[in-house]
Amino acid sequence: MLAFIEQMARDAAQICLAATENSGNFTVELKNGPRDPVTSIDRRIEDFLRQKIRERYPDHAIIGEEGGRSKDTSGWNWVLDPIDGTVSFMRGQPGYSISIACRKGMDGVAAAVYAPVMDQLFTAEKGKGAWLNDRPIRVSDCSEMNKAMLGTGFACMREKLTNNNLAVIPQIMPEIIDIRRMGSAALDLAYVAAGKFDGWWEFILNDYDVAAGILLVQEAGGEVCDFSGGENYPQAGIIATNGKLTEKIRSFMPEPDWTK
Ligand code: IPD
Ligand code: CA
Ligand code: CA
Repeated sequence: MLAFIEQMARDAAQICLAATENSGNFTVELKNGPRDPVTSIDRRIEDFLRQKIRERYPDHAIIGEEGGRSKDTSGWNWVLDPIDGTVSFMRGQPGYSISIACRKGMDGVAAAVYAPVMDQLFTAEKGKGAWLNDRPIRVSDCSEMNKAMLGTGFACMREKLTNNNLAVIPQIMPEIIDIRRMGSAALDLAYVAAGKFDGWWEFILNDYDVAAGILLVQEAGGEVCDFSGGENYPQAGIIATNGKLTEKIRSFMPEPDWTK
């Protein structure tokens, strides 16, 4: 199954790269307002992935950002974000990825996050480990905030929340070595898995942003939780770390009623 996922990710990447090489050969539409764009390439890639999965696993359900959710009859489901980081993609920046997860119920079985411009293919298989371009990866062993390189993200949907990520930044920034905003939650999780980030957090995200990345982090020895330390992620916020910084990062997050 992992070889099948890897091949799909690589083939889908060719669609992205061809579109950007032709100096932006795609159209852009707005979904929920001016800060939520989708391109014709997001839709084309999701159609491509859906077709490949349907051919090989006709009874598996598919949940994708652009195409919604198909009926689940087998207990198996695929969670797709065809381009995670559409805004980076649109602007010709490398911080985007193709995110593919296969789950049995809610449990990740196999997953890939592929960043085409950087040719970074992160993969994981339940109980077997995680890899970057076929080399095994592990989370970092950093346990001190003043040495920590963290990632985070901000989203259009959260601008109206009273408690949002803007309030966390001035608190956490002076405590750590530096921060990155790459533009793709899936890739951020992959970077935690590979020890390139020591930790990462975001406020409200969707399953399709994080399903593949969560398996990468867990299989690379890391930890994922919500802002209360529980398992209601990504709806109640999401924190992913090397396992040594979870409580420290969590202490900067808002109180449990932050979504109000
Ligand atoms: C976005 C990316 C980004 C995160 C946003 C997401 P999209 O996904 O994951 O890093 O900050 O919240 O919506 O819309 O580009 O697939
Ligand atoms: Ca996304
Ligand atoms: Ca997307």
